[in-house]
Amino acid sequence: MSDTEKLTTRLERYAAALTARDQRHVLRFWEGLDEPQQAALLSDIESIPWEIVDPLIASHVLRAPERTMPERIEPAPLFPAIPSKERGPEYDRARGVGRALLSDGKVAAFTVAGGQGTRLGVDGPKGCVPVTPVGGITLFELFAQMVLAARKKYASDIAWYIMTSPDNHAETVAFFETHDFFGLARGDVMFFSQGTLPAFDRTGKLLLSEKHRLALAPDGHGGSLKALVNSGALADMQRRGVEVISYFQVDNPLVRPFDALFLGLHAVAKSEMSTKITPKASDLERVGNLCLADGKVSMIEYLELPEALAHAKNDDGTRRFDAANLAVHLMDVAMVERIVGTSFELPFRRAEKAVAFVDERGETVTPDAPNAVKLEAFVFDALPLAQHAMLLEVDRREEFSPVKNASGADSLETSHRDQTARACRWLETAGVDVPRNNDGTPDVNVCITPSFALDAEDVANKIKDIPALAPGSVHLLR
Ligand code: UD1
Repeated sequence: MSDTEKLTTRLERYAAALTARDQRHVLRFWEGLDEPQQAALLSDIESIPWEIVDPLIASHVLRAPERTMPERIEPAPLFPAIPSKERGPEYDRARGVGRALLSDGKVAAFTVAGGQGTRLGVDGPKGCVPVTPVGGITLFELFAQMVLAARKKYASDIAWYIMTSPDNHAETVAFFETHDFFGLARGDVMFFSQGTLPAFDRTGKLLLSEKHRLALAPDGHGGSLKALVNSGALADMQRRGVEVISYFQVDNPLVRPFDALFLGLHAVAKSEMSTKITPKASDLERVGNLCLADGKVSMIEYLELPEALAHAKNDDGTRRFDAANLAVHLMDVAMVERIVGTSFELPFRRAEKAVAFVDERGETVTPDAPNAVKLEAFVFDALPLAQHAMLLEVDRREEFSPVKNASGADSLETSHRDQTARACRWLETAGVDVPRNNDGTPDVNVCITPSFALDAEDVANKIKDIPALAPGSVHLLR
C-alpha cells in the first residue's frame, strides 16, 4: 500500500467517527494539506479517546459539571511539623524507617513537568529555567543534584522519572542530552509523555490550532497515574524493587524529595498516599485545602471551600482548616497499579481558557478572554481512593518557594529571597556567622546546591569547607 493509500484508509476510518459526532469540520482544510500535514492531523484525531471524551462533552463541556459537595467537611488529622515530647521517639523511629527505605532502593523520584508554564511566560520547559540566586542553576539540574546526592548518601540506585507532555518532551530530553544528564547515568533517568485531550469551544466542537493540527492540551497532572503505567515506568519501578514514588512538581527549588521522616511516617502509618501540608498564610489563601470530606482525606480547592469554613476558628483562635497543599506526595507503586488497573479515571475538572484557533476561513484567532474548555485530572483526587492517606505538616520556609509567576508572589524574585534565607538559616544552625541587615535580612548572597548539602545536618558536616561570609559577599557552595 502506498503512503497516500494508507492515509486514505486512515482517513476513511476516522471520517465516519467524526461525522457521527458532528466534528467533521476538522477536515475542512484536508484537500489543501500536504501528506505530512495530513498524517499529522490524522495522528491527532487518532489520539482522541472517544470513550472518555464523548460523555465528557455532555457533562463537562456543554455545561459546568455538577459538583457534589461532601456532606461533612472536617479538619484532617496530621502529623505536626514539631512533635510533642511524647511523640519524639515515634518521629526518630520513622526517620530510621525512611532511611532504610532509601538505602534499600525502595524509593524513586518522580517529577511532573508536563505543564505549559504559561503564567511564568517562558518559552520551553519550565525545568530549563535558571532559578538559583547565585550560579543560575536550572530546576532540572537542581533535582538531578538531589538525586545524585541521595544516591551517594544512601549508597543506593535511586532512579528518577520525569513526566513531560508532547509539547515539551523533545526539548526536555534534548536539554538533558546537552548537559550530559548532569552526571546521572542515562539508564537511571526515564522520560515519558503524558496523555492529551482536545480543547473544545463552548458548543463542544473540536478546535484546530493549525489547519492540520487539533488544539490538544495535557490531561492534567492526574494523567500521571495512567502515564506511569502506559509508558512502562511503573513496570520499570517494579523491576527495580521500588515501592514508594516521591512525587513533586517541577516548579519548587526548595523541594525535599528524599525526606526520611516523611517516608518513614508514610510507611509506619501504612499510608498509600501521603501529602505534605503547611499552615495557610491567610484564611483565603489561594491554595488547595487538605480536609476530611465525608471521612476521607481529600483536597478541596480554595474556590470550593465554603467561605464560612475558610474563616472558621478553633476555640484557641487558631484556623480550623489550616492545611495548604504543597503538591508533594508519596504514592505507593501498588496503589497506582490498583487504581489504573481497575481502569478508574480520576475525575476530570473543567477549565475555561483562552485558546488560539483557526477559524473557518483559515485565519488564526488569538482570543484574550476564555473561549475554550479544557479538561484536566488532578493527582490529589487519588487521595480519597487510597486505602489510607497521611498528612505531614512542614515548615513552608524550609520546603516551598515555587516559581510560577513572572512577578509578585511565587516568582523568581520571591524564590531567590527564600532560597537565600534557607541557606543562611542552615549556615547559622551549623555555627557560621551570617552578616545581616538591620531588618534581619541576610547581607550576603548564598546558594547552597544540593550537591553540597541536602539539609542543615549536611551543612554542619561540611563546616570546614565553608568560607567566612563577609558583608555583601556572594557564595556558591557546591
Ligand atoms: C498546584 C495545586 C495547588 C497547590 C500548588 C502548590 C493544582 C490544581 N493545584 O497549583 O493545590 O497548592 O500547586 O504549588 O494542581 N503539570 C503536568 N501536566 C499537566 C498539568 C500540570 O505535568 O497537565 C505539572 C506542572 O508542570 C507543574 C505542576 O503540575 O509541575 C503544577 O501545575 P499547575 O497547573 O501550575 O498547578 P498550580 O496552579 O501551581
